Amino acid sequence: MQVILRQLGDCIIRRAELSDLIPVMEINLKTLPEHYSDYFYESLIVELPEAFLVAEIGGKHVGYIMCKSEYGFSNFKKLGFVKKGHVVSVAVLNEFRRKGIGKGIVEEAINGVKIKKCDELYLEVRYSNTDAVRLYESMGFTIRQKLKTYYRDGEDAYMMAIEFNY
Ligand SMILES: CC(C)(COP(=O)(O)OP(=O)(O)OC[C@H]1O[C@@H](n2cnc3c(N)ncnc32)[C@H](O)[C@@H]1OP(=O)(O)O)[C@@H](O)C(=O)NCCC(=O)NCCS
Repeated sequence: MQVILRQLGDCIIRRAELSDLIPVMEINLKTLPEHYSDYFYESLIVELPEAFLVAEIGGKHVGYIMCKSEYGFSNFKKLGFVKKGHVVSVAVLNEFRRKGIGKGIVEEAINGVKIKKCDELYLEVRYSNTDAVRLYESMGFTIRQKLKTYYRDGEDAYMMAIEFNY
């Protein structure tokens, strides 16, 4: 059964199902240089379905976000060991950007990782990706670290994170 989380005009944001993975991979191929194996997508949808979401307009997939969760040192508290959500990948097709879909899908992923009682959510973003950095900042993420030559092509990344209080 489809779980619809949010409606933005004619766009719905809902949890992904296995049958969504091929369109999600197609969006990934068109929008980002980082790609993953079929198995990896499947493992994320099984591990954290609450935060593997798709955006759809009239049956066409226009965006997705996928996350995982892990335990590790806090990005906020010195020596704190916490449960962290990690945004592995998020994208909206170029022709559907700047309509609030990116923000909606990240907000719903935040709700998803909160269902799993994560204390924080973090992600990596390219230095040059100012659109994405601004979007995350507008939602309360802050830059916690600079990761030198994080990407295969040598570009640096910001590690950005948001902390939750229950
Ligand atoms: C980053 C990304 C997901 C954002 O998606 P998006 O759907 O464009 O995001 P939103 O529409 O919610 O917000 C983007 C901007 O549009 C603005 N916006 C939102 N609704 C709007 C509207 N109705 N009209 C005009 N602008 C609007 C937002 O204010 C924001 O602008 P700002 O950065 O100046 O604050 C998208 O650019 C993308 O897929 N990029 C390529 C992949 C990528 O870089 N992924 C992130 C890797 S970390």
